[in-house]
Amino acid sequence: MRNFGPQNETQQHMKEFKRTLVTAALPYANGGVHIGHLAGVYVPADIYVRYLRLKNRPVLFVCGSDEHGVPITIRARKEGITPQQVVDRYHGIIKQSFSDFGISFDIYSRTTSDTHRQTASEFFKTLYEKGAFIEKESEQLYDEEAKTFLADRYITGECPHCHNPKAYGDQCEKCGRDLSPTELINPKSAISGSAPVMKKTKHWYLPLDKHQEWLAKWILEDHKEWRPNVYGQCKSWLDMDLKPRAVTRDLDWGIPVPVEGAEGKVLYVWFDAPIGYISNTRELLPDTWQTWWKSDDTRLVHFIGKDNIVFHCIVFPAMLKAEGSYILPDNVPSNEFLNLEDDKISTSRNWAVWLDEYLRDLPGKQDVLRYVLTANAPETKDNNFTWRDFQARNNNELVAVYGNFVNRALVLTHKYYNGIVPACGQLSESDQSVVEEFKGVKNEVERLLEAFRFRDAQKEAMNLARIGNKYLADSEPWKLIKTDPERVKTILHISLQLVANLAIAFEPFLPFSSQKLRNMLGMNTVEWDRLGSTDLLTEGAQLQPAELLFEKIEDSVVEAQVQKLLDTKKANEEANYKPAEVKPEVAFEDFEKLDIRTGIVTACEKVKKADKLLCFTIDDGTGTPRTIVSGIAQHYKPEDLVGTTVCFVANFAPRKLKGIESQGMILSAVNFDGQLTVITPQRPVKPGSQVG
Ligand code: 2FM
Ligand code: ZN
Repeated sequence: MRNFGPQNETQQHMKEFKRTLVTAALPYANGGVHIGHLAGVYVPADIYVRYLRLKNRPVLFVCGSDEHGVPITIRARKEGITPQQVVDRYHGIIKQSFSDFGISFDIYSRTTSDTHRQTASEFFKTLYEKGAFIEKESEQLYDEEAKTFLADRYITGECPHCHNPKAYGDQCEKCGRDLSPTELINPKSAISGSAPVMKKTKHWYLPLDKHQEWLAKWILEDHKEWRPNVYGQCKSWLDMDLKPRAVTRDLDWGIPVPVEGAEGKVLYVWFDAPIGYISNTRELLPDTWQTWWKSDDTRLVHFIGKDNIVFHCIVFPAMLKAEGSYILPDNVPSNEFLNLEDDKISTSRNWAVWLDEYLRDLPGKQDVLRYVLTANAPETKDNNFTWRDFQARNNNELVAVYGNFVNRALVLTHKYYNGIVPACGQLSESDQSVVEEFKGVKNEVERLLEAFRFRDAQKEAMNLARIGNKYLADSEPWKLIKTDPERVKTILHISLQLVANLAIAFEPFLPFSSQKLRNMLGMNTVEWDRLGSTDLLTEGAQLQPAELLFEKIEDSVVEAQVQKLLDTKKANEEANYKPAEVKPEVAFEDFEKLDIRTGIVTACEKVKKADKLLCFTIDDGTGTPRTIVSGIAQHYKPEDLVGTTVCFVANFAPRKLKGIESQGMILSAVNFDGQLTVITPQRPVKPGSQVG
């Protein structure tokens, strides 16, 4: 019907660039993808790329598996397979997960591809020939039995902080502290078990100190617009003064160092991985890849997690600059971390929601996860994913706001007009103001997306649905249908235009639901530039039957997910259990002072107004019942203890607990998970028998 005017162009500086090259951090191919990855990197990158495509701006979205590095060799050794078999397996799993969640890469390749090997090798050679490296000999840990140098990860020993006996030479996974191999107590080679020795070896270093000056200017002066977390981390690195970094390693898995005298050495994984962005572009576009990497009018944007900031903002730019023919990133929108149920996501502790498992348990709910992860995106600070919040956002926002509005508009149209878009009459004042409101959404969503503010942008899209719900609730077409049918036509016409706008506005965020909605509306294309207009659907168009866009998630579904995590936690605690330190020695005479006896529980009940206390009546063989108050109410039902023989300290000084005099102390063992179990004799004994 009517288009409500042209939309303003967004940020001016976008016009300087002819194309945008978007990269997403290459995930290590030694595990699957979890919600932390998706929230931190891949969903925001995908939203951004989908948006640029909708704006018809030339864009390329490049990613792939990071298939080198020590952790992959460790996993292979543990499983008794080759590193190639490890990466083949996980490359497949990761690629499938990304595709399942609609992450719309133009290419998803891998760093074991021939193109990558060649590209990374050439890159190193160019730098080598330009004299961009320094060569240095240093002492490194060496395994004399296995005749190999040991990466920090390959040294294990006791953590000096928490005494975890299985800490690695670079980190203790129990207490999370960074370590160096020399700090470990009793360090051992993870390969042969022997104690490592120091041995000289030669490596190539990128002298970051020589790049310090231009890097400081380029980041701290020319890129003040970078996110504060990224800028801040770069600043603290630059303030500390950069040092040369080794870009080669003694290892048998990786890209061989392409110079003479470097046998047995490979490129460090963090040298070859970012070159993967270039190789994968080259694999996709063998003839034109250089336009994407070597033209000043290309805008390069790296989406990464916060643990990758230094490599993407300092090391990789230094490599690119040293090479000389490449562009540098224009922005590096890094997120902070996403926690899971208030605990750090951890692959080794299996504290994660894995994408393949999620889809097995919640089939078809890709967009729900995309929505929740964007609504909770850790854009400015670490954030937390909980299953309760997941359920609430689904039920209260996707179902109750978005789905509900769409459903009401479609169902009413089917009911009153057999699913045919009715004509629009004269707009009332309230119609006008609704139309005005949603006209503004496009600019706002665009402004936020251009600024990488994905959670706010998604909120704006959701705001359209709120406008729609309010409009229907205020105008009450179901009441007017008898008295003013013409008016109902206009109300539903406008509501349907709003629904069509929602399909466009949510396209970058919730692509599966947008597609489903467009099918219902018979919209074959998405014209982003018409977002905000009221002529997306033409009068007389036939709609398809209304289907639910989202479904309510029941308590039992999220409870099962929480239980799964609790089971994981318990299994971890059990695996890591270590008995407490033995207390200082005591003399036999001191032990003898304790009078420990057995007794039969004749009655047991909860102590009022005390969550933890049970009051026991014990037959201690004296003929006088003994009362003992014990703090085990959270571990037993009182009735289950009646008839049990327990052990208690009989000469414990009496004390009052909640007004009851307790005459002793019942003995119990504390399990690894804090659970208390009362100690009972293994064979029947008379009440009052002494224990010692
Ligand atoms: O942290 C990681 O998972 C790395 N594999 C990211 C590499 S990003 C890039 F440099 F390839
Ligand atoms: Zn530790």
